[in-house]
This record gives sequence, C-alpha cells and structure tokens, in this order.
Amino acid sequence: MHTITIAIDGHSSTGKSTVAKELADYIGYLYVDTGAMYRAVTLFALQNGCIIDDTVDEAGLIEKLGNIELSFQKNAEGKAEIILNGKNVEKQIRTLEVSEYVSPVATISEVRKKLVEQQQRMGQGQGVVMDGRDIGTVVFPDAELKVFMTASPEVRAQRRYDELLDRGHAISYEEVYENVMERDTIDSTREDSPLKQAEDAIVIDNSEMNQEDQFHVLLQLAKDRIAGRV
Ligand code: DC
Repeated sequence: MHTITIAIDGHSSTGKSTVAKELADYIGYLYVDTGAMYRAVTLFALQNGCIIDDTVDEAGLIEKLGNIELSFQKNAEGKAEIILNGKNVEKQIRTLEVSEYVSPVATISEVRKKLVEQQQRMGQGQGVVMDGRDIGTVVFPDAELKVFMTASPEVRAQRRYDELLDRGHAISYEEVYENVMERDTIDSTREDSPLKQAEDAIVIDNSEMNQEDQFHVLLQLAKDRIAGRV
C-alpha cells in the first residue's frame, strides 16, 4: 500500500504529540516525537555541565555532541519512549527545568543538524507521522501532508499547567504561561529553522476543539492524501 510522510508542526503545548501519535497508531505508521529528541539533548546538557549560570555553554555542548546517542523504545503499552545513551529518560525530559533550557539548546545549528539527519533516516522508506517545529519546512519539505497546529497562549498554558499538576509538580499557572510565551518567542525568532508555517500546511487551531475532533480532522486529511485524492 502507498505510504506517505505526515509532518505535524506547531506551537508548544498544542497537544500535537498526543493526536499525532493517535493518528500514527490508527493508520499503522511510525510516530516520531522530535521535541523529545531536543529535550533529551537538553537533559544531557544539564547532566554534563553544559549549562553554567543559567546559560547554555554552546561550545561545550557542541564538543560533546558525539557522545549523545538517541533512540526510541516501545514501552509495555506500545508507546515509544526516548532512550538517551541506553537510559530511558522519558519522564526526566518533561520537567520544567528541561522545558526552560530546551529552546536555547534548539537554537544551536550543530544540534539541529545532528537531529535532523537522524529524523530523515528514521522516516526513510516507511509511513511516518513526525511532529515538531521544522518537519514540514526542513526535515521533510516534500511531505505529502503538512499540518500546523496552534491554539491561544492561554489555552496552551492551561493545558501544560494541568499536565504538570497531574504529574505532581508544584508550580504556578503564571510560571507556565511565561515559559510558553518565552518558548514561542525563541522558537519563532531563532535564525536556524525558525518555527513557521510551511506555505502548503493546513492550519488547525484547536483552542476550541477536543482531542476526538482533532483526531477525526487529521484522520480525514491523512486518508485523502493516502488515497491520492488531494
Ligand atoms: O514539542 P516540545 O515542546 O516537546 O519541544 C521542545 C522544544 O524543542 C521546543 O521548545 C522547540 C524545540 N523543537 C525544535 O526546535 N524543533 C523540533 N523539530 C522539535 C522541537
């Protein structure tokens, strides 16, 4: 059967990973959460003295990039979890500490080059749903389906806040809101591969949509592309 590449980009905390994964499972495609890869590099930086006085030591991190090996492994429920140098770090990469430094780490061209190459290899020769910020613009500019997901900053901060509370993190809504806004700014204004909508991407604003609605919109788009109807 004809397989396609599905690129899902958009702002942070739009819930794109959840719906992208749901779609991939449903149509039997590989799902890749590229944000998890940038987060794992950030965790590595934190663990290896590459963040000094609240600042990312770019040169130090670039020097150590060769020591970073990333892969994904499915857990008992079939969800792919990220492995950093042989260790499952899926939980550790979701903390606010990692969220605070991940955007500056993702501005480093050498980091992006390494991860983009790995992402392109992962998507070769099979159906893939990949989510991130630059999938439709840089990683797979020829993807058959490109979606750009967004929602209002308030809705996104509330979602992220609820998620962190659920996980037992003691944090205020204001802190989360600030982090969401700051990441938007850094992600959209960085020089290398800024977050921007690909010209041929379909925009989904999910501020007022539940997960089921989003899934059905996405599934219909995917079915049309796979059948070659669009
Ligand atoms: O999707 P996420 O919030 O887990 O992503 C974490 C950060 O990684 C985000 O602030 C921007 C960066 N990122 C990126 O620059 N390019 C990608 N393809 C994916 C994520």
